[in-house]
Amino acid sequence: MASLLLPSPQLPRLANLLTSSILLHLLIVLLLLSLAYRVHRWHKLRHVPGPFLAGWTSLWLTRGFISYKVYEDMHALTKKYGPVVRVAPNKVIINNIDSIYRITSARSEYKKSDWYLLARVMPGADNLLSMRDPKLRAKRLRHVLPAFSGKNQDDFEPAVDKTISTLLDLINTKYLSSPSQHRLMNLAQKSHFYTLDSFGEIAYSQSFGSLDTDSDVLGIVKTGDVTFPLLSAVHNHHKIFQTIQKWPFYYLLPREGDKVGFGRVFGLALEIVNKRSREVGEEGVDKKRDMLQSMMDNGLEGDELRSEVAMSFFVGSDTVASAIRMTMLLLMTHPAVYRRLQEQIDDAAEKGKISRPVTNDEAKRHLPYMQAVIQESLRLFPPSSIVPFFKEVPETGDTVDGYYLPKGTTIGTGCVMWSMNRDEDFWGPDANLFRPERWLEANEERRTEMERCVDLIFGSGKFVCAGKKIAFMQMYKLFPELLRGYNWSLPDPLHLPTIDNPTIWDIHGLMVRIEKR
Ligand code: HEM
Ligand SMILES: *[C@@H]1O[C@H](CO)[C@@H](O)[C@H](O)[C@H]1NC(C)=O
Repeated sequence: MASLLLPSPQLPRLANLLTSSILLHLLIVLLLLSLAYRVHRWHKLRHVPGPFLAGWTSLWLTRGFISYKVYEDMHALTKKYGPVVRVAPNKVIINNIDSIYRITSARSEYKKSDWYLLARVMPGADNLLSMRDPKLRAKRLRHVLPAFSGKNQDDFEPAVDKTISTLLDLINTKYLSSPSQHRLMNLAQKSHFYTLDSFGEIAYSQSFGSLDTDSDVLGIVKTGDVTFPLLSAVHNHHKIFQTIQKWPFYYLLPREGDKVGFGRVFGLALEIVNKRSREVGEEGVDKKRDMLQSMMDNGLEGDELRSEVAMSFFVGSDTVASAIRMTMLLLMTHPAVYRRLQEQIDDAAEKGKISRPVTNDEAKRHLPYMQAVIQESLRLFPPSSIVPFFKEVPETGDTVDGYYLPKGTTIGTGCVMWSMNRDEDFWGPDANLFRPERWLEANEERRTEMERCVDLIFGSGKFVCAGKKIAFMQMYKLFPELLRGYNWSLPDPLHLPTIDNPTIWDIHGLMVRIEKR
């Protein structure tokens, strides 16, 4: 039988020829289709200026993200091309303050783009940040916003006071220098311990114990350090991440039982939620007045609750830690500013205007120069200045600063923060200078304008950061204690710390010398 079917000697060649020509044709058709798609994609935004390559391939933008220098790229682009720039085939950035406020306003039809799926730290369960659907978002906001809201701020202060006192104890026992004793402290790390532990107290009525043990006990800092650089590589390729979150890759993702990394963090989220659920039923245990309890009281439970908790470890601590360490670095490198701030704090303390630790309200009323210092530091080093936070143009399309953007175009509202806050046309020729005085010199109208610009680093309108007030409170209460009690200095001008920006500002080797005053 088999031999009967054997083809004649010519046939294989013919068959080979046929298949290879079919394959060749198929390949050509595929190439043409892909080209047509690319031309179509390019054509849709051809009127928007930008680098030539960026119109054709995403890789142009990816290069910027991988180098951690995308914030500088964006600055160069807006300088060269104007207020709307195409940075990838389907992506633009805009650098007009009013336009950003308009597209994020409560009435706007803009949505979070699918980029936000990157924030889905727990597979299969959305948190407030990753949630895109406007209706679901509105519902989730109702459940979780009260936990972050102003009316609970007073309740949060004792939690932060407790953490500050632990930090000061740590400094006093382990890191004080004197003429006869030289000790250095890693301030970049301790600032993260502080924000992590104080957030733990605020949100879950439990410190994470980082300052108590002077170590990254739970591995959260480490997880962030490893994750952020990876994250910046996928900012422009979130689809890959989306695929990973689906079967079968899902099974490769971190699990609760893991000892380190995200798995450890999920496990911790689960532990916290379970512990509280048990306590709620128990007699004799006072009802906690923290963020977790507020979310539970508002009906959040199960995976929804756990995903909010897991997300909060990351958004709630790295950003503020970044702001604290950059502010301290700026102070130590600008002695005139440092001295003026220290004097204001000393003076307020002498006149009995601030308590120890300072209350949020006292800081707002009696320490205007400190507020200016913080604003100026946030302006120069916005904590999340490479994160794009892409928003999606609605069904109807939209015209932004004279450029028509068809539906589905995504607009990066985040990664332009460095650029907007150092724009010389807006800030003046000394835009790059750390000069808090500019905030005090400005008249009311100008100051409001300046604040509107810096405020954008927290997002705006319906997408605004839920933890903004908490972030300021954590800073307002901390700096006075650091400056009134100690002198801070950088030990060695020849070995200055190096600064990196893989999502937040990371300072390597921020070793500082602390002397009691
Ligand atoms: C200086 C510190 C901080 C900065 C610069 C910052 C910045 C941001 C930005 C840019 C967004 C996204 C806005 C957008 O989608 O367009 C955001 C969202 C968010 N932040 Fe913050 N943040 C900070 C501190 C915090 C803290 C301390 C918490 C928690 C206590 C927090 C909780 C959140 C939450 C829950 C969201 C999601 C809000 C939503 O999507 O509706 N943030 N933040
Ligand atoms: C701390 O700094 C101030 C000046 O800023 C100086 O007068 C004081 O002597 C310093 N204290 C110590 C202990 O170094």
